[in-house]
Amino acid sequence: MSESYTIAVDGPAAAGKGTLSKALAAHYGFGHLDTGLLYRAVGAKMLDGAAPVEAAQNLSPEDLARDDLRGPEVAQAASKVAVIADVRAALVDFQRAFARRAGGAVLDGRDIGTVICPYAQVKFFVTASAEVRARRRFLELAAAGKVITLDEVLGDVKARDERDMNRAEAPLRPAPDAILIDTSDLSIEEALAKAIEVIEARREAG
Ligand code: DC
Repeated sequence: MSESYTIAVDGPAAAGKGTLSKALAAHYGFGHLDTGLLYRAVGAKMLDGAAPVEAAQNLSPEDLARDDLRGPEVAQAASKVAVIADVRAALVDFQRAFARRAGGAVLDGRDIGTVICPYAQVKFFVTASAEVRARRRFLELAAAGKVITLDEVLGDVKARDERDMNRAEAPLRPAPDAILIDTSDLSIEEALAKAIEVIEARREAG
């Protein structure tokens, strides 16, 4: 594949974007950037008392390596700081530079196909019903030892969907040229096979 081939993967919380993106990156030998982690790192700093815009402008590798970024409190904080235009603006260059890295990149998030990499060669919009997504996230959190109920997780997922889809700046929505993958009834292998099929068909079409 040509240099700086970009695959954009967007979708709501716990739809399977991260798993699909990692698998695609491994398959093609591309880099993978989970852009949600950037917002989570800013959200975590806000919970620590920092001003979100300043936190976004000064993110360090250590901020991204914190092991408390996966929890539901930080997820909500991430979704809250993500409505702030100056927070989003501070994170654009890093994401675009990653997308242009030699050898290709997979970026997953909410606005990759619409705002960060509108030129991406392939765009996927990965969805699943809120119930399926909540169940998956609940199982992940339970496996990590988090004490939380399925109902609480469903409430969190719905609140984030609502905020992410209805914000003024870069709202969550499929790019007009995105390929929809609904993972409600698909295994990881099936979703990956579908995505690879789309990419290969594009490459053959030139
Ligand atoms: O993908 P995630 O669940 O880790 O993302 C956490 C929050 O960050 C999400 O609810 C909204 C925000 N986000 C965003 O606004 N834009 C992105 N590209 C990625 C995440």
